[in-house]
Amino acid sequence: MASRVEVECLDCNQRTPYHPTTQACPRCGSAWREARYALTALPPDYPQAIARRPQTLWRYLDLLPVRALPTGFSMGEGGTPLYPAHNLGMMLGLPHIYVKDERQSPTGSFKDRQAAVTVAVLKEAGITEAVVASTGNVAISYSAYCARAGIRLWAFLTSLVPPEKMHEVAIYGTQVVKVTSTYDQAKQLAAEFAQRRGLYLDRGTRSVPAVEAMKTVAFEISEQLGQVSGSLPHAGPRPTAWRAPDWYFQAVSGGIGPVGVLKGFQELVDIGLVRRVPAIAGIQTAGCDPMVQAWREGRMQATPIASPRTHIATLSTGDPGRTYTLLRQHMKAHSGGMFESVTDEEAFRAMHILAKMEGISVEPASAVAFAGLIKMARAGVFQPEDVIVVNCTGHTMPVERIILGEGWARNVVLSAQTADTPQEGLLAALSQVADDRFPHVLVVDDTEEARRLIRRILQAQGNYTILEAANGQQAIEIARKELPDLVILDLMMPELDGFAVLDALKANPDTAPIPVIVVTAKELTPDEKQRLSGQIHTLMQKGEFMNDELLDEVKMLVK
Ligand SMILES: Cc1ncc(COP(=O)(O)O)c(C=O)c1O
Ligand SMILES: [Zn+2]
Repeated sequence: MASRVEVECLDCNQRTPYHPTTQACPRCGSAWREARYALTALPPDYPQAIARRPQTLWRYLDLLPVRALPTGFSMGEGGTPLYPAHNLGMMLGLPHIYVKDERQSPTGSFKDRQAAVTVAVLKEAGITEAVVASTGNVAISYSAYCARAGIRLWAFLTSLVPPEKMHEVAIYGTQVVKVTSTYDQAKQLAAEFAQRRGLYLDRGTRSVPAVEAMKTVAFEISEQLGQVSGSLPHAGPRPTAWRAPDWYFQAVSGGIGPVGVLKGFQELVDIGLVRRVPAIAGIQTAGCDPMVQAWREGRMQATPIASPRTHIATLSTGDPGRTYTLLRQHMKAHSGGMFESVTDEEAFRAMHILAKMEGISVEPASAVAFAGLIKMARAGVFQPEDVIVVNCTGHTMPVERIILGEGWARNVVLSAQTADTPQEGLLAALSQVADDRFPHVLVVDDTEEARRLIRRILQAQGNYTILEAANGQQAIEIARKELPDLVILDLMMPELDGFAVLDALKANPDTAPIPVIVVTAKELTPDEKQRLSGQIHTLMQKGEFMNDELLDEVKMLVK
C-alpha cells in the first residue's frame, strides 16, 4: 500500500494531505500545487522490486497519489514499448533516436495515463461524476475509463475537434457538449459548469493526478533505456540502474506532458536512479505556438493566441497560462531544451516519413514532435551521440484525406462482364494496375546501407521505381538496359568508381542525357571537381544532405 501523499503549494510552500476535492492551497488560495512523496523512504532495492511488477503504470504506485492498486477498470495502461527509429536516425545522422510508442495505449493516446490515474483517485474518494474540456484525446481517454468505472462524464469539446473523434467520445456514453468556439473558451465553459454543479474538473497542469500520471512516461523511458544502456554512448563513470535520455521530444498543447515528465525525471534524480533531467523539446504548430513565441522573445509569460490557425485541433491551446512560465523556469534552471514550431505541412510530411520509413502511422499531433526533431536536426542542434526519445503521443483517428493528397489509391473498376469471364477480366484489371509509370531512379552505391537509405528517403515521399546497383559495372549495365530517368551515383567504389561510371554513361548516346546526382563522402580535389563539372547536375555530400534537399533535387530532375 502506498503512503499518504501530500501536496505542496508552489506559491507559499504550505504542505497539506492530498484530497481531490480540495483544489486550492488552504493558506494562500493558490491552485498550483504539486504532490510530494517520502522519496528517501523508498527501499534501496526499489528498481529490483519494480522490475518484478506487471508492465503497467501501476508498477510505480509508490510514486502516485493513489493508495491501492485499482481493481476493476484497469486496461493495462502504461507499459508501452520504447524502440529505436533506425531509419529516421540514419537519415538524420542521429543513431540514438527512440520512439516511446504511446499509440499502444488502450484508447490510442498517452492521455490514457491521465484518465486512468485520475479515475483511480476519483474512485478512492467516492466521486461519481466528472467534467473535462478537451481537444479530443483527453475526452476519449476519460470516456473509456469513466465508462468502465461507472463515473458519469461531461466532455466539453471545441467544435474544431474532427467528427471522428467526437463520435468516439459519444460511443462511451459521455455527455458531449460541443462548443462552437476555441478550445480555450470550451475550457472556460467547462470550468463554469463544473463549479456550478460542484463537480470534479480535470484542470490540466493544476490537477495533481493528471500531472502525476504523466510522470510515468519519464519513469518508463528511464527504466527502458536502462535496459539498453550498454549500447548507448556516455554510460558515465557512476552507473545508475536507469538512464535518462539527453532529449525528450513532445508535441505540446496545454503542456501537461512535459510538466509531468520533468517532474518524473526530477524525482528519479532525487532518488538517485538517473543522473540528470533531459533537455525538453516542446514542439507546437506554427498556427498555435504561444509558448514558442514567448520562448524566442525570452519572455516569462506567453501571450495567448486568440484564434489558432491550424488543422491540428489537438494542439489548439491558445492560452497556456502559467504552465509555460513553470516549464520555462525549469528548463532554464535545470534541464535545458527549447520550444520550436513546425507548420501543418511539415507535420503532414513527417507523418509520411514516419509511416514509410519506420512503419509508424500517427495522428498529426504526434507527427508535430517528429517534424520538430527533423527541423532541429537540420539546424544542427544535436550531437550524433545524443540519446533522443520522442513521445509518439497517439493515433486515435484514421488518417484524413487531406494528408494523403491525390493519387493515394489505384482505382480498379471491375465491370459486370467480369463475372462471365472472371480470369480475363481480372487480368485486364491487373494490367490497369501495373500500367502506372513512376520515374525510374538508379541508385549506385557499393554499401547496401547507403542504397537502402536513399531508397527509403525517396519512397517516403514520392512514387519512384528504384533500381539498385552495387558496383560500377552493374550500374553501367542497368543504365543501358533500363534507361532510368535519373542516376544517383556514389563516387568511391572499388574497381569501377563513380568517375568511370560517369564517363561510360556520357560516352553512350543512349545514357548520356540521363541526369546524374553525385552523392559522396569524399572531399573532392580541384582536379576531381573539374572532372565532374558539366557532367552532373548536383553534388551532395553524404551525411550532410537531408531528405528534403535530396528530394527537391530529384523532383526537379524527374517529373
Ligand atoms: C496525441 C497528442 N499529442 C500531444 C498532445 C499535447 O499534449 P500536452 O497536453 O502535454 O500539451 C495531445 C494533447 O491532447 C495529444 O492528444
Ligand atoms: Zn499557498
